[in-house]
Amino acid sequence: MNRFAHITGWGTSVPANVMTNADMANIIDTTDEWIRSRTGIAQRHIAEAGQSSASLGAEAALKALKVANKGPHDIDLIIVATSSPEHIFPSTASLVQDRIGATHAGAFDLSAACTGFIIAINMAAQAIRTGSIDTALVIGTETLSRLVDWEDRATCILFGDGAGAFVLQASQESGGVLSAVMRSDGSGGDLLSIPAGGSKLPTSAKTVQDRQHFIQMNGREVFRFATRVMAQATEDVVHKANFALSDINWVVPHQANLRIIETAAKRLKLPLERFVINLERYGNTSTASIPLATVEAVTDGRIQPGDRVVFVGFGAGLTWGAVAVQWTGPLPLDKPKVWPYRLHGLYRIYIKLRSWGLKVSRLIEGVVWGRRRS
Ligand code: UT7
Repeated sequence: MNRFAHITGWGTSVPANVMTNADMANIIDTTDEWIRSRTGIAQRHIAEAGQSSASLGAEAALKALKVANKGPHDIDLIIVATSSPEHIFPSTASLVQDRIGATHAGAFDLSAACTGFIIAINMAAQAIRTGSIDTALVIGTETLSRLVDWEDRATCILFGDGAGAFVLQASQESGGVLSAVMRSDGSGGDLLSIPAGGSKLPTSAKTVQDRQHFIQMNGREVFRFATRVMAQATEDVVHKANFALSDINWVVPHQANLRIIETAAKRLKLPLERFVINLERYGNTSTASIPLATVEAVTDGRIQPGDRVVFVGFGAGLTWGAVAVQWTGPLPLDKPKVWPYRLHGLYRIYIKLRSWGLKVSRLIEGVVWGRRRS
């Protein structure tokens, strides 16, 4: 029996706090004109003190589950693609799992920089197709504002915070995720990196003084690489899915730079109107950029069920890739609507109490075990 992986739910979460190019010009030597003309970005959202990659990711996930009419207990697997995880470990995915009360889910983070969301969709789809799982939550979430060097005008103007999530579900109906392309070239690892804070260069007073725990980038090299791989990955993924470039209804590219997207469109000989672009309002939100753009296009009716959509991205690593999908939307209900009461504040209180309950029971267990040993 054939199994297909369909995207059946989607949601986003973006901090309310907006930083315009004019605000940026108040803290570094730049202008609105320079940023717009070189990147297409006009503003970005910046996380507030209480917000984090896990909190934004959890909010986006709850919205996606509501669209799919699934409860957190229905999820088998959570993959969080992120370039700004809360910690090296535990994974941000496990923290999201706890925050949404996904009691039956496995969870892990996927590190492939801005290409992460594309690879996460492919991993979830593979697990669904093999029959290993039925329902997956794929999240791209970022608080890159915490990792940019606010004294480096070449990078801090680019990035923004936000999260997007998809629910993927198994179905015997054909469609959903059709094909994928995943590529990497680690020889370009130094072109876009956070040099310190890992096992190679652990954080020290010197690394902090040298600002090596912030994002460092060779913008021109990354730009050249991006313009080359975006068109190639799109061609490859379309070929693998057995349709033609002209059959694509929508391309949702990684939202890094308008000029990169324009160059890709030209190389593919596709009109720019067929590209979903919203980077003007969000900047580069890394793994969150593709779901943020997709959800906008689905919500305003551009992307319709049955449409052929290509997600294509690139990023640090270097990494790049694409996924071709036939857009689905929510599957017919297999049980009564589960969400109206679950989204209620009471459910949120319940999952917080559940998390605290587990911590307390571990504490008690520790005391009991300690006594037994002595
Ligand atoms: O998810 C992947 C993330 N990375 C990317 O997508 C990055 C791809 N690269 C880019 O988007 C572009 O390379 C940038 C937007 C980062 C830079 O644009 P560029 O046209 O490549 O500029 P540049 O680095 O060649 O710099 C040109 C000039 C330099 O001045 P000089 O040396 O010509 O006098 C920079 O110092 O622009 C200067 N500059 C700025 N001026 C005003 C760099 N940043 C700024 C700024 N405001 N924010």
